[in-house]
Amino acid sequence: MGDVKNENDVIGVALIGIGRIGKVHVSNILRLPRVQLLYIIDVNRTFAEEYINEYNLVSTTALHTDDVDTAYEDNRVDAVIVCCPTQMHETHVKAALKKGKAVMCEKPLALSLESIVNCYKTAEDEKRPLFCAFNKRFDPQTAAIRSQIPEVVGRLKVVKSVSRDHPRNSIEYLKISGGIALDMAIHDVDMLIWLADQIPDTIHAIGHAHFDDIRDIDDVDQLFITMKFPDGTLGHSDINREATYGHDQRIEVFGSKGMLSGGNIRPLCHETHGDHGTTLPPIFDSCMSRYNESYRQEVMHFMDVVRGKSKLKVVGRETIWTTLCCHVVNESLSTGNPVKVHEFVQKKFPHILSEIDTWGAKTNGAVKSNGAHHINGV
Ligand SMILES: NC(=O)c1ccc[n+]([C@@H]2O[C@H](COP(=O)([O-])OP(=O)(O)OC[C@H]3O[C@@H](n4cnc5c(N)ncnc54)[C@H](O)[C@@H]3O)[C@@H](O)[C@H]2O)c1
Repeated sequence: MGDVKNENDVIGVALIGIGRIGKVHVSNILRLPRVQLLYIIDVNRTFAEEYINEYNLVSTTALHTDDVDTAYEDNRVDAVIVCCPTQMHETHVKAALKKGKAVMCEKPLALSLESIVNCYKTAEDEKRPLFCAFNKRFDPQTAAIRSQIPEVVGRLKVVKSVSRDHPRNSIEYLKISGGIALDMAIHDVDMLIWLADQIPDTIHAIGHAHFDDIRDIDDVDQLFITMKFPDGTLGHSDINREATYGHDQRIEVFGSKGMLSGGNIRPLCHETHGDHGTTLPPIFDSCMSRYNESYRQEVMHFMDVVRGKSKLKVVGRETIWTTLCCHVVNESLSTGNPVKVHEFVQKKFPHILSEIDTWGAKTNGAVKSNGAHHINGV
């Protein structure tokens, strides 16, 4: 418990919350060499039992959340993956860290900035890694685009994304999700910051609720986010809760030398030609199928971190800045005005601003001296 594992050691894992994303992570964990899924923990224990029985997971024990200490006290458990609803993340993350476990947690790490900072403080106190699962960074197409920016794009001018979900989430999920900015746009905000390698100076957001039930919970289902970065790069993200034709995911990076674009990926790629013209098979139908490879890659990365083979690719400073920017999106949505990011943070979270760049600084990157906050010290 708490020791760095060797390359050939078996890593014991406990997973909390066997819902939509929990099942995806379990299916990927089961494909990894020298990783053993020891516990599935859920507030509804029968969900865990049913899953274990369905896949005949003879080495995995189902636990009710009240019995989570059984997993935390088990010295074979090195790592905990938190996939329960967002409101419960902080409790599980801190408890697991305090028991010496490495923790991977679904996004958003928590809804409040204070909770996120507390989680990272606990991780530093306990000297254990805390990985917030921004899976889009681990998508092979997105990662390939980012790696080619210096060569192909040159001086950056525009970073853009389209993210339209399919199928629409239930209103029960949306009610507790934290809202479109913190629940959904957070992936794209993180990705644009990661692609631009800077924190935006200004953010402007507008949105609309086309669905009555979404308007009733004071949220929107169509959101535009525009950003201006310190070096003049402009960012734009077009976020929607429901596209009828599939999980629509596109990005574009444009600059002085050229352009990189990532279009939708399809499970089948054949073209059909006939007197009706040319048709293509549908795009992936959900984030679970579109991003399955990125979910696999992020779990593999987490295991590499637990084994001491890799530094965390998403550090506290980045999670906090991304979440702060989502709070700025909400501020802009409610006021209708563009918001200066640093002024907003200085006003609302002054204590965080003074220490934010220390979070994760020991494990990744640096801050540019001109005041522009560059993520990877490029
Ligand atoms: N990265 C992604 O692409 C992605 C996709 C979907 C969901 N998520 C995130 O994953 C988290 C879960 O979302 P979901 O869609 O899988 O939810 P879900 O409702 O499908 O599943 C949640 C599971 O957690 C269990 N649960 C509820 N309260 C619990 C508690 N206190 N302790 C332990 N288990 C509890 C539920 O019984 C259920 O099995 C959310 O934070 C969400 O934002 C991320």
